[in-house]
Amino acid sequence: MATEAPEEKLAKKITDAMSLSAVAQQVAQLAGDINCSVAELDKVISKDPAMSSKLIKMANSSLFGFFKKSRNVSDAVTRLGLKQTRNLAYSFCVGNLVSGEKSAEGHEHEYSQFNVWCHSVAAGALNDLLAKHSGARELRKHSDAAFLTGLLHDIGVILADQYKHKDYYSVPGMMTYLNQSLPKVESRFLGFTHEDLGARVLEKWKFPKEVVDAVQGHHSPGQHLDNPLTPLTGITEYVLASNEFPGFHDVPADIPARGLEDIKFKLEIIGEPFNEAIEEFWKTAPELMDIYLQ
Ligand SMILES: [Fe+2]
Ligand SMILES: [Fe+2]
Repeated sequence: MATEAPEEKLAKKITDAMSLSAVAQQVAQLAGDINCSVAELDKVISKDPAMSSKLIKMANSSLFGFFKKSRNVSDAVTRLGLKQTRNLAYSFCVGNLVSGEKSAEGHEHEYSQFNVWCHSVAAGALNDLLAKHSGARELRKHSDAAFLTGLLHDIGVILADQYKHKDYYSVPGMMTYLNQSLPKVESRFLGFTHEDLGARVLEKWKFPKEVVDAVQGHHSPGQHLDNPLTPLTGITEYVLASNEFPGFHDVPADIPARGLEDIKFKLEIIGEPFNEAIEEFWKTAPELMDIYLQ
């Protein structure tokens, strides 16, 4: 009998211990039906006041905001659309499961769960803005999932630290000592990477396949050009590291520029649109931090 991969075993343990809220599951189910009405979604989301208030704040944020503000859940759902409403419901739900560790020891440590979550929120915002400014039709088609993908791309780091803290604790030090990438060190010491673990957990939580695939491949963006969300997240990682966005980084700040420029060209995020996305990012990031790090 084939032995179970270590990330699969850990993913089972995690999803046995943590499940998505009933409200998030109902939203996902409803949003999957194109005939679902705004009133039906409003009824389900309103059962969760925290989710309702976050959804309204997101609909009014500079990321999704429009001239006229959303005053209630119905307004927010109407503006965001079915897919984005589902994705944001997922994101708030996962946020509740993973971001509660603000006072953990090593809070100021780059690899603390709090810092990884800050990096994740920033990556969500930047992914979304880059996708919106991209000229590539293929990527714009998937822009609804860009925020969720960025937000969750490193969930494997947070979960590995929560569930394998003793083993994971030494990974950052080993990276420096061995001068190797995070996935390489993880594979060597844990037998799996944070990409593997994150993807397996999201798969079990029934997240959209395009999101799961992008999480699985985000450290080798050039090899996964078939799913534009993967190279998009790769670009986001490098931009955050090279602009010294505070906190956790899982790619080196000295960018291997050649490969990256090719990907940016392919996704049509170059020149003015790229600069505009970065400019908007610095305005948007603090607003999103307020929503996701409350
Ligand atoms: Fe990563
Ligand atoms: Fe990352």
